[in-house]
Amino acid sequence: MRIHVADHPLVAHKLSTLRDERTDSPTFRRLADELVTLLAYEATRDVRTEPVDITTPVTATTGVRLTHPRPLVVPILRAGLGMLEGMTRLLPTAEVGFLGMIRDEDTLQPSTYATRIPGDLSGRQVYVLDPMLATGGTLVAAINELISRGADDVTAICLLAAPEGVGLMERELSGTPVTVVTAAVDERLNEAGFIVPGLGDAGDRMYG
Ligand code: PRP
Repeated sequence: MRIHVADHPLVAHKLSTLRDERTDSPTFRRLADELVTLLAYEATRDVRTEPVDITTPVTATTGVRLTHPRPLVVPILRAGLGMLEGMTRLLPTAEVGFLGMIRDEDTLQPSTYATRIPGDLSGRQVYVLDPMLATGGTLVAAINELISRGADDVTAICLLAAPEGVGLMERELSGTPVTVVTAAVDERLNEAGFIVPGLGDAGDRMYG
């Protein structure tokens, strides 16, 4: 498991506005979309390509194209849905699967209520979208499901992470081909399982 914190002033600027409690839902959704595209640029640094012969108006040369099978993008419903367009803007040919997961407000344990992803992910690169990595329970369960189906390279894009969630990922997914790309790792989780300082409940701020 590898974590990459995107260190860029535009990322920090957009994240700061997302954190602000005065930011309304339409603005929150637009900024989350923009932030995902910036994070996706970092997250796709190792997307698999192969050489392709092309001819420019001047001469023949060699370029690259994405390899087959296509990458799979998996937003975790509900809040991950708000990250899908920002991701597919960069990877328009990606296949899209869906995982519906909810974290119990008391126990903080995740449960899965919808699964719509290919059964065989052998040799596939997968990009998981979930704005918040809090305890890490949701993302660990999601990634274990993808790896059990054969995914051999998983990158999670999170707007924000807590050290507790990063720690769980490192313990549970050590030795696996998993990368987390995030805009920031915050201070801690509070008693209710919210990231501090955080940005509140991403799902509620997008769709509530
Ligand atoms: C939030 C968030 C993550 C999860 C993170 O979703 O979007 O999926 O909690 O928590 P964890 O790291 O402690 O598992 P939530 O369960 O609130 O569902 P929602 O997206 O439908 O709002």
